[in-house]
Amino acid sequence: MAKVLLGVCGGIAAYKTPELARLLRKAGHEVDVVLTEAAAKLVAPAALAAVTGRPVRSSMWEGVESGRMDHIDLAASAERVIVAPATADFLARAAAGRASDLLSACLLVTRAPLLLAPAMNTCMWEHPFTRRNVAALSALPNVRWVGPEAGELACGWEGPGRMADPATIVAALERMSKRDLEGRSLLVTAGPTREPLDPVRYLGNRSSGRMGQALAEAAARRGAKVTLVRGPVDLPPPGSGVKLVEVTTTEEMRREVLARWRKVNAVVMAAAVADWRAAHVAPQKLKRTGETTTLELRANPDILAELGRRRGDARRPLLVGFCVETADLAEAARAKLAAKRCDLLVANLAQEALGLPTARVEIHRPGKKPLGPFEGPKADVAENILDVVAPLL
Ligand SMILES: Cc1cc2nc3c(=O)[nH]c(=O)nc-3n(C[C@H](O)[C@H](O)[C@H](O)COP(=O)(O)O)c2cc1C
Repeated sequence: MAKVLLGVCGGIAAYKTPELARLLRKAGHEVDVVLTEAAAKLVAPAALAAVTGRPVRSSMWEGVESGRMDHIDLAASAERVIVAPATADFLARAAAGRASDLLSACLLVTRAPLLLAPAMNTCMWEHPFTRRNVAALSALPNVRWVGPEAGELACGWEGPGRMADPATIVAALERMSKRDLEGRSLLVTAGPTREPLDPVRYLGNRSSGRMGQALAEAAARRGAKVTLVRGPVDLPPPGSGVKLVEVTTTEEMRREVLARWRKVNAVVMAAAVADWRAAHVAPQKLKRTGETTTLELRANPDILAELGRRRGDARRPLLVGFCVETADLAEAARAKLAAKRCDLLVANLAQEALGLPTARVEIHRPGKKPLGPFEGPKADVAENILDVVAPLL
């Protein structure tokens, strides 16, 4: 039960917000609504006031003469903020740190968890400016997204841009509020590792580090103390509550993991570590000689298998492995689960996850049927994985 500030922008999906407000009330929340000027043309303020049982605000200036400052008071008292629908224009204002209307000013004031439900024409959603604004907002530690979903849009187009259903938005809000990892500690690995071949070249892979980072951030939001050991990636630092340790090679990752693994409740190995390194790293740049060349590679240590071995029959910490395959996923996952002696193995196909913002995973468990598939943006799949991990801690 929380004090929720519901911001409604001038997208056609605003007509769905009385239903959203009703579901939020039904879930036990107290709801204050802020409408932008454009939203007030698309949904009746009176409908929202009637459903929430509270006055609906639109202007920063309304209550000033009677001593109120709504942009501070509403935002500071809100325990959760939802913006639905979030228009392209609103995302631009929010990403630029504007405070030119009541809703964008509230966003600058609040530090509460903020759920954004964008809705707009597909071209607007895919425009590089909107992508940039989404990326800027995603870097804030309190921001989560729900939707947009793909389908038929009010403007007659087909594609991503539809606001998530009110029930989906409420479910996302509930998920955002979970604190089921309070008092727990997690060690998470992410990204590729790189093995130098000479001073200018390396052996690497296409892992983006997004899944591991999403897991670390979601676990921190759910109350855990989290350390993220991350290979070289093109990602911003993780959100607040996550301690970052940066490494390059598999051996460095192994060292950092071994220094910490016994002190945590769970180790989640989402990194795609390089399986081989050069047998000899050339001290100078290798010269091009002839049409073919041969590199001698040596197997790297298998960090997960080593933890499984070292842990032996002790059940703590919980070990969660990942595997990425290009074919025969379930078979490979079952074999790895047994060989590495881990408690859960998250399996995905390279073509459905590696280097992508989305993933499709199955979670394999010893002696039980696999869970899933779980599919969607990596932030959502990370929550699905933690829903399986949390009760085991
Ligand atoms: C009928 C109508 C529907 C609109 N629907 C959307 C929409 O779904 N998404 C969007 O980003 N903009 C939409 N717009 C444009 C916004 O209303 C406009 O950019 C406005 O400045 C947004 O203001 P706000 O962000 O303060 O609400 C629509 C405009 C009209 C006239």
